Amino acid sequence: MKPTRVRTELRGAVAILTLDNPPVNCLDRPTRQALLAALEDAERNAAVTSVVLTGARNFSAGADLGEFDNGEGLAEPTLHLTITGYLDRMTKPVVAAIAGAALGGGLELALACHARIATSTATLGLPETTLGFMPGAGGTQRLPRAIGLERATSLILSGQAMTAAQTLDYGLISEIGAEPVVDAGMALADRLAAAGPLPRLRDVAMDEPLAEGYLAFARRSLEKRPTTTTGQLYAVRALTAAATMPFDQGLELELRLFRELFSSDDARVARYRFLAERQAGRVPGAPHPLTVRSVGVVGGGTMGRGIALAFLAASIPVRLIETTDDRADAARAGIASELERAVSRKRISADESAARLASLDVSTELEGLSDADLVVEAVFEDLAAKREVFRVLDAVTRADAILATNTSSLDVDQIGAATSRPSQVVGLHFFSPANVMPLVEVVQGVNTSPQTLATAVKVVARLRKTPVIAQVGDGFIGNRIMDQYVRQAMQLLRAGVTPEAIDRALERWGMAMGPFRVLDLVGNDIPWQARKARALGETARPEWAIADKLCELGWFGQKSGRGWYDYPAPGRTESNSELPGLLAEHVQLSQAMTPEEIVDHCILAMTNEASAVLREGIAARASDIDLVMVKGYGFPARFGGPLYYADELGLDRVLLVIRRFAEAIPSDFFWTPDPLLVELAGNRNTFTRGTQS
Ligand code: NAI
Repeated sequence: MKPTRVRTELRGAVAILTLDNPPVNCLDRPTRQALLAALEDAERNAAVTSVVLTGARNFSAGADLGEFDNGEGLAEPTLHLTITGYLDRMTKPVVAAIAGAALGGGLELALACHARIATSTATLGLPETTLGFMPGAGGTQRLPRAIGLERATSLILSGQAMTAAQTLDYGLISEIGAEPVVDAGMALADRLAAAGPLPRLRDVAMDEPLAEGYLAFARRSLEKRPTTTTGQLYAVRALTAAATMPFDQGLELELRLFRELFSSDDARVARYRFLAERQAGRVPGAPHPLTVRSVGVVGGGTMGRGIALAFLAASIPVRLIETTDDRADAARAGIASELERAVSRKRISADESAARLASLDVSTELEGLSDADLVVEAVFEDLAAKREVFRVLDAVTRADAILATNTSSLDVDQIGAATSRPSQVVGLHFFSPANVMPLVEVVQGVNTSPQTLATAVKVVARLRKTPVIAQVGDGFIGNRIMDQYVRQAMQLLRAGVTPEAIDRALERWGMAMGPFRVLDLVGNDIPWQARKARALGETARPEWAIADKLCELGWFGQKSGRGWYDYPAPGRTESNSELPGLLAEHVQLSQAMTPEEIVDHCILAMTNEASAVLREGIAARASDIDLVMVKGYGFPARFGGPLYYADELGLDRVLLVIRRFAEAIPSDFFWTPDPLLVELAGNRNTFTRGTQS
């Protein structure tokens, strides 16, 4: 039997239409068909005077990107003209009653309704441009009519979601309704049915005399930025139409631009990223995950606090353990102040903040974790310390509890071996700040059971983060690849290129931050300590000599006021005037290098290592690696990731460039092309074919 995608219920003279396409009510074709049919029924049914449109759990997260590959996305009935057009012609009021997310096509649908109402926790936004697209179902025409051109432009270009409180402020919704929001929606629908002509955003006159100048300015700023997507530029064109043309002409232009964008490189990358997300964290055999109701966090430093905040945000109570009362108090205060900050930025309400804090318990007794379903350890990066914590955890926690470590470099198996339950030990490698970063590497030890893995993956998804599975190996996926990237940047210093030139080239290309600025931010001492720990018995690599030297001088970066750059005051960065002298001693040969060559060296160093990570099975699929680099390390989303990027360049070309590097720079040990890259290039194959098909 086909599932009902839209349920209709009559309450008196109000038809309640509920979108029901779990998990997020994507507007795929069957849902659109059911929605149009339900709207037509309500319009025809003489017993109905008004309609409330709502969604089970979420209103709707918009289009199903997966449908864009098989053409269904643009098939009738389209949201673009058919459904929103039908709403425009309806004679009965339709109120969108929004709980959860109304994003992309979901918000566009709500904008075509006659009024909107939302719960206090709802989020509304048009994120399309961040995904390589643009709104294509009237969003660029109706949103400026609802909240003004400048605000709409900024929201569409940033893709940022609005809270319910903001949308009320802006006049996008009529009121914030208590749950169940349908009740308040019905009252509003009744009022609209009794009042005069139905309010339609399409009828709102645009009175924006400065629009063209403002939008021309927005376009020029976008054109200067390397990360600008075609979707953003096209959105500006559609917004200009909104301000200067009659509604229907604007709508037509929007649709034409949207269709054009559809076959662009940006949109192809967007589809790749979407499919990559969907595949990430799939556990072969998919055993039933355990339910996690309460969590323990051991260690309340930078990571422990962020991890606790992430669980609290997902309504999972946390007991956090520190070593002393003072440290426990500091951890609690740190978490409380983060929550306060979120309140002052209107990210959460004061009530929500209080509720989260009330679900946090901080103590110094590991024994307090006796009923936790999952414990995440985030103590110092020291194997002996972690093994000791795990030994005690093994003794004090329930026999079925899962024990996870947040180690960024240690062997999960060695940590698990300190317990009597290595099959229930797993790595959960959060990124800093853990309450913000959208990625977690889930590290599978040789003994980690599929059920433990499946539970870890599921819990990460509950935190609304992307879980990517990695096998045990130095640096897992991301840090290992970044290591080679930074190493290559160090090599370039030996070839006479300056840190500024390297950072600038990579930032213009699209990396969120150049490698030297990242090092100064993280602290040069952190990889220095790791190198020292690792170099035992290994010959020190000459390219690190300069980085070691900086650390010996105490130039740790921002925290010490000096690193690869100088930091004379908070927020100010200047050149480090003493660095050129140090660099001069380090340079092996002076080689002029264009920004493009710098980018090729650093990014293909990533690609080559990513190939090894895939070949060794540390990651199960190319798209997992690409996701890690984009979501965890600031690799430009529009290039898909180091493997997708190489596929687009052509692997035979990549191989040629790498071989040329091997001859040109005194780095004989560095540029050995990875065997998988050589093989795929030879077969005219690609890394990402499986995900793109
Ligand atoms: P941190 O030094 O800020 O915090 C460690 C905390 O653990 C301290 O507050 C300490 O008092 C506490 N602690 C130590 N032994 C303990 C014990 N036996 N019981 C309870 N608490 C104990 O360190 P950070 O940066 O939070 O790192 C923690 C772990 O997370 C490390 O394994 C690190 O490699 C990993 N990690 C760190 C990242 C970062 O960017 N800082 C990123 C990803 C992973």
